[in-house]
Amino acid sequence: MTVNVLDIAKRRGFFWPSFEIYGSCAGFYTYGPLGALLKLRIEELLRDHYVNKEGCLLIEAPILTPEDPWVASGHVESFTDMNVECTKCGEPHRADHLLEDKTRKTAEGMSLNEIMAAISKHDIKCTKCGGTLGEPYDYNMMFKTYIGPGKNKITGCLRPETAQTTYMPFRRLFEIGRKRLPLGVVQFGKAHRNEISPRQGLVRLREFSQAEVQFFMDPASSGKHPKFGSVKRRKFMVLTKGDQKPGRKPAEMTLEALVKKHTTEWIAYHLATAVQLFERMGIPKKYLRVRQHKDDERSFYSSDTWDVEYMSDTFGKIELVGIAARTDYDLKRHQEFSKQKMQVNLDGKTFIPHVIEVAYGIDRPLYSVMESNVKVDGDRVFFSFPPSVSPYQVAVFPLVRKDGLPKLARDVYDTLNGAGFYALYDEGFIGRLYYRQDEAGTPFGVTVDYDTKKDKAVTLRNRDNQKQVRVKIKDLVEVLRKVMSGQLKFEKAGKLIK
Ligand code: GLY
Repeated sequence: MTVNVLDIAKRRGFFWPSFEIYGSCAGFYTYGPLGALLKLRIEELLRDHYVNKEGCLLIEAPILTPEDPWVASGHVESFTDMNVECTKCGEPHRADHLLEDKTRKTAEGMSLNEIMAAISKHDIKCTKCGGTLGEPYDYNMMFKTYIGPGKNKITGCLRPETAQTTYMPFRRLFEIGRKRLPLGVVQFGKAHRNEISPRQGLVRLREFSQAEVQFFMDPASSGKHPKFGSVKRRKFMVLTKGDQKPGRKPAEMTLEALVKKHTTEWIAYHLATAVQLFERMGIPKKYLRVRQHKDDERSFYSSDTWDVEYMSDTFGKIELVGIAARTDYDLKRHQEFSKQKMQVNLDGKTFIPHVIEVAYGIDRPLYSVMESNVKVDGDRVFFSFPPSVSPYQVAVFPLVRKDGLPKLARDVYDTLNGAGFYALYDEGFIGRLYYRQDEAGTPFGVTVDYDTKKDKAVTLRNRDNQKQVRVKIKDLVEVLRKVMSGQLKFEKAGKLIK
């Protein structure tokens, strides 16, 4: 049986194209009840790590800003893609993508003139109607609007990254962070890019969610990370910038080897952290690789960028997180344009801190978690989400809707909910209830039956292998905690039923 994640996502209410009743609009998706919870849990996992384990400050800034910061950051001038439109039907296309699709070679680093010449040489036509293409041009991807009414209105921009809205209040954050470096600041929130032709579901959106961490540091620290020793022997599949010639494959490499020749401890440490967090979200490491951006591909603000990529069956490689050495570029530009000091005085030195950015998308990891966890077992389709991110961790059902079983089941639900589990209560035919929760990726089911009245126990069902154990209600919270954290094997959690 072949399964289409996008179909299940729509049917079960994880996500669907927005504005459907008006014919939709490319690049916008709505998260339904299961998707919104899955997203929240992925964000929680990241927040817990960066705020609680790495000690970052959490902030939240507006998504709509005046234009000035984006002039300073360089986005007004340089945040562009090459657009080419059909002269017949008007369909817009990303010029570099059209060329790549035709030639099967990368168009990375090609200038507008080179792309134009190549489109003409290969006689590339509109993929929608076969019409002749016009001249490609640089197209700025920021959404613009107005702030305020009338003559005094100003141009507003929807932020294309959260990063700048973290850089602007740097001086204030430095004070709040007790004037220490390195200083980590994390921001979760929406960003917007007016993509030319978004067609890949959650992979390319015009409105999307980010979790971006900015580490401000003293450049004299030379990229040394205090916790690098704890990860240096970890191995990853790596493509360095020198490896990306046709036919070259990623090679397994320790972080120690990576740091010797290719990058800094800070970048390597955060690559390891990101991979570990993706694994905790349930994405197997075999689908992940680490790739360094080539010189002609790096964003205009970066001196060294690495991505963790997910190898998708449907969409090919998907960038899940980008880790970039942004140097002092952004703070320096804000200092220059705003005339406000971004430099700090520390240990007798005055300098503008350098930034290492760890920029997660949220929508792409969410899709990757779904794709890499969809399982087919005979007629059964389920998501094998780990309890650390599953929308619901446990579902509670009465075997039948009578004889006091719903009341007993609701009491169990209240107990689990009160203990902090993401729990769900439902009623109906038990087989169908299990099926629905398998498709929702709920790892455990609890059924209250007639025996419950006598033995004060319930049946606990494991989604992945459908095994069932009998567990006393008084032990259920403890048992579930231990099974979810891996301290207790499911088969040992109670008397095995099947
Ligand atoms: N802040 C980096 C990015 O949005 O790609």
